[in-house]
Amino acid sequence: MVETIQWTDAGVVMIDQTRLPREEKYVTCRTYEEVAEAIRSMVIRGAPAIGVAAAMGIALGVMQTPAETLDAKFGEICETLAGTRPTAVNLFWAIDRMKKVFASHRDLAIDRLRQRMIAEAQKIRLEDIAINMAIGRHGAVLVPDGKTVLTHCNAGALATAGYGTALGVIRAAVAAGKKIDVFADETRPFMQGSRLTVWELQQDGIAATLITDNMAGHFLRQGRIGCVVVGADRIAANGDVANKIGTYSVAVLAKENQIPFYVAAPISTLDFKLATGDQIPIEQRAASEVTHVSGVPIAPAGTAVENPAFDVTPNRYVTAIITENGVARAPFTESLRKLAG
Ligand code: MRU
Repeated sequence: MVETIQWTDAGVVMIDQTRLPREEKYVTCRTYEEVAEAIRSMVIRGAPAIGVAAAMGIALGVMQTPAETLDAKFGEICETLAGTRPTAVNLFWAIDRMKKVFASHRDLAIDRLRQRMIAEAQKIRLEDIAINMAIGRHGAVLVPDGKTVLTHCNAGALATAGYGTALGVIRAAVAAGKKIDVFADETRPFMQGSRLTVWELQQDGIAATLITDNMAGHFLRQGRIGCVVVGADRIAANGDVANKIGTYSVAVLAKENQIPFYVAAPISTLDFKLATGDQIPIEQRAASEVTHVSGVPIAPAGTAVENPAFDVTPNRYVTAIITENGVARAPFTESLRKLAG
């Protein structure tokens, strides 16, 4: 399986997701500012993966800051990383976790404190892989044998430390011997479906068919699709789900056609501070992502553009939320709390 992100002596190494599938190039971020830029520019993306990247960025920052100025600088390092992308709550979850470890080990000698911060970031990475495999086990039983699974965006190994959430469910179902193939929405405008999901599934030899986003309704109506499985960037206390733009349309069309719509996400994606999805901040990205494809303009110069990177799917469209602790169903306000413990 592809290595999305790793801690090395040279820095934080990530596969550059802006270049896939044309090129498999690994970049090394040598400072926390470089990690922040990699998250902002989507060299690394996907909610759990950016959480791991932020944790490693903080560890890098702590490594490189002289002991005398560390207390003053630590807040700035965390703020820089927190300011990269607003929607995926895993980013803030990972930063909070690193802050707690920093605070509770502040009395250690500087070298030991640094080692402790690196160890925590590496632990977050390894835990994420184990969590995704557990999500896969819980989700695999829900996937109907002999049918097509529709997914949107990339919630795979590339979007996590490894294995993936939605693609983890698919991987686990295939490993359990189910005969399934995958329809991947191309996921305009950043093309995570065509560039990343199809590439990733091809690496594993899982049959993947690329469709444009506006074909999803057509195929959902035809009866060939057994279920939809997507990831999430943030899930409110009531089970409303923020995920890649276009997810909401797929969810509505799935319900209209009585096709189960599953969301696969770790517990760290739940945000109990937000009562409903209306409170989830939605990232707005550059107009050029919509007006250009690979640097080539596809709209007249000066075209007005909206580019929300995520949308919110109300909980009534969600059949179940698959976590590492089990599967939550409506009413989500109770079932999610119970699973989170
Ligand atoms: O803008 P992106 O590519 O970071 O958006 C990613 C998604 O929307 C994923 O579906 C989500 O983060 C879950 S990844 C396991």
